[in-house]
This record gives sequence, C-alpha cells and structure tokens, in this order.
Amino acid sequence: MTLEQQILHAFAQRYGAAPTWVVRAPGRVNLIGEHTDYNDGFVLPMAIDRAVWIALRARDDRRVIVHSLDFEQTVGFDLDTLQQADLGWAEYVKGVAWALQEAGYPLTGWEGVTAGDVPIGAGLSSSAAIELAVARAFAAVADLPWDPARMARVGQRAENSWVGVNCGIMDQLISAAGQAGHALLLDCRSLASQAVPLPPGYRFLVLDSAAPRTLAGSAYNQRRAECESAAGKLKTVYPAIVALRDVTPAMLAAHADLLDPVELRRARHVVAEDERVLRCVDALADGAITTVGALMLASHASLRDDYEVSSAELDALVELAMLTPGVIGARMTGAGFGGCAVALVEADAAEAAAEAIITRYRERTGRAGKAYICAASQGAEAHRATHPAPA
Ligand code: GLA
Repeated sequence: MTLEQQILHAFAQRYGAAPTWVVRAPGRVNLIGEHTDYNDGFVLPMAIDRAVWIALRARDDRRVIVHSLDFEQTVGFDLDTLQQADLGWAEYVKGVAWALQEAGYPLTGWEGVTAGDVPIGAGLSSSAAIELAVARAFAAVADLPWDPARMARVGQRAENSWVGVNCGIMDQLISAAGQAGHALLLDCRSLASQAVPLPPGYRFLVLDSAAPRTLAGSAYNQRRAECESAAGKLKTVYPAIVALRDVTPAMLAAHADLLDPVELRRARHVVAEDERVLRCVDALADGAITTVGALMLASHASLRDDYEVSSAELDALVELAMLTPGVIGARMTGAGFGGCAVALVEADAAEAAAEAIITRYRERTGRAGKAYICAASQGAEAHRATHPAPA
C-alpha cells in the first residue's frame, strides 16, 4: 500500500467514513547554496519524492485531533488553549496552529491521520514537511488562501518560536513551493522563486551518512552569530549592508582586516557560495554539467575548510562518490555535522553508483549509510479525497 492508501485506510477504520481532504508536503535536498539562507542569500533545493501525508476532515468545534501511524500515537488539543509541551512530533502540529493564528488566519478544528516517509533526523527536512503538511491541512478545512511564501514563513515561525530551532527559510520554502521535475532558485531575501529544470539524463543521489548530528544545533547558532558579526563590521564601511548577501568578493577582500580570522572564513564561504548558486543555475541552463559538478565540489571544500560544518563521514561520502563511475559532482547538503551528502550522477549509472558508494562507505566507517535516488516532486498540495478508502 502507498502511504496515501495507508492513511485513507486508517482514517476509514477510526472514523467509519472517508476523509474530505488528503494533503502532503515533501522533504527536500539542497543541490547548492548552503548556510546562505539566513544571510539573505540564494539556495537551490529541490523537493523530494518523500513526504508527510495527512487524511482529514473538518470538525465543527475548535479541536484538532491527529493520529500518527509512524509514532502510533494520537494527540488532541484545543485551538484556543495552545500550550507548549514536550510531545515530539505533536509540537510541530501545535506550533503551526499557533503560528497561523499569530499571523491572523482564522482556523477551524479537524481530525485526521498522518504518516510520512521522509527519514527523521537525516537532514532531509522532515520537520519542514510536517509543518507544511499541517499548514496545508488547516488551509484546506478553513478555505485559507495558499500563498507558499507566507505559509513557509508560518512554518519557520513555528520551528523558531514554538519548537525552538533557529533555522532559516530554505526548508519551509521549498516544501511549500517545490515544482515537480525542477529545483528552485530561491532568493531568501525576497522569497521569490525561479523554477530550474533538472538536467535530463542525470539523477541526484542522496547519501545518508547515518552519523549522529550532535553538534548541529549549537554550532549552527554559532555560525549564524559569526555571519551577523562579520556583516556588522563590514557595515561600518558600507552602510547599505544588511546581511552578507550584500557583500561582494571584492568588498570582502578590500576590508578583510576588519574581521577576525574565523569571521573572515565564514564570510568567504557565504559570499562565494552565493556566487556558486547563480553560476550553477546558469550552468544547468547551458547544459554545462561538468561545471555543475565542479561547483558542487567547490561548495563542499568551502563548507569543510572555511565554514567548518562537514564531518569525516560526509567527507568520506563525497570522496567515495567521486571515485565512482558516472558521478559528476558531490557535496554535503543541509546544516552539516552528519546528515546527508548529495551527488549528481548519470541516470544509467545511478543504481550501481548508489550501491557502490554505500558499500565502500560501510567498509570504511563501519556505519550503516543509505542511498536514495530522488526525483524532484511538487511542493505542499491538497486534494479532495473523492475515491473511497480501499477495504
Ligand atoms: C538547515 C536549516 C536551513 C539552512 C541549512 C543550511 O537545513 O534548516 O534553514 O540554513 O541548514 O543551508
């Protein structure tokens, strides 16, 4: 059974009726543009064909009741008395309800069943997927307008202020706005997006290091602070600077002496990474696939050496990928310190490459590792559940 069939079936079992709506929102993999989103810069992610699904129907009161097939747990809460707790996945549901109401959206209650296949904690944005699926659910039952950028902001607010994770806007925006068959060039300042067709004849492999991301939270916040500090110091000579997005390589070179060595390395990564994203979009448009590969490798080196967010496992995945026939480029993806790498590979070689890389990774590190061949999917969507649930 597909996930959609599973939630339809479980809904019918619980409520003795078919749901009114089915919604889904995908996870993501970022192709290039790492740690640029919170510097108002550019990113190039794609929504993947793994998602969080919810089957639901409206209630005529202000309660929300959700059963998770993955956690085998039911949570219920009242929209007028939302309270933070430590309920794991349910905090994302409540957090989105809170953020939608804070943004002025009038909500109604609903009940539903959820399930997902975005690996949790692997750096593929399972949190953004549940946030945007819940936002889609509220939008469906209350007939709210679906503006992907505004809904992405709601998801980010839930994550920042309710769940307490200080993420940027990339994950929520791609989950909200993704387009099948495309990556999206996202301007994280204006939230404008441009669909970038993926190169025919190639695939993106997601390589999960299966290594714990212990440092991720604290080091992430530290990197953000270092970037803000660097931008603040450069602003003393260039008053128009709001974030590192506004700094060119020439400006940085001319005033490197204003920054301490760590800030200089962080700024060098961000400023160069923004340029790499735009060059990568051009290279994809030109079919210059080896340039795309070279930019991915340059991005990885910069994240490893200047931004210092890679890990031995991620470096090993990239190195092993580049030794594998058919692979054009590879880099770590997401926040770093564990999580996943992404590799661009010739379509015909994709399956063999996935297996070869993971086998060698296991031999080298003793960690499980896992590879997914990902297709670019549509962002958050809702449809009426017209078909009856299977028996
Ligand atoms: C995490 C965050 C994103 C982004 C990336 C790094 O995925 O949630 O906002 O900052 O790290 O590019």
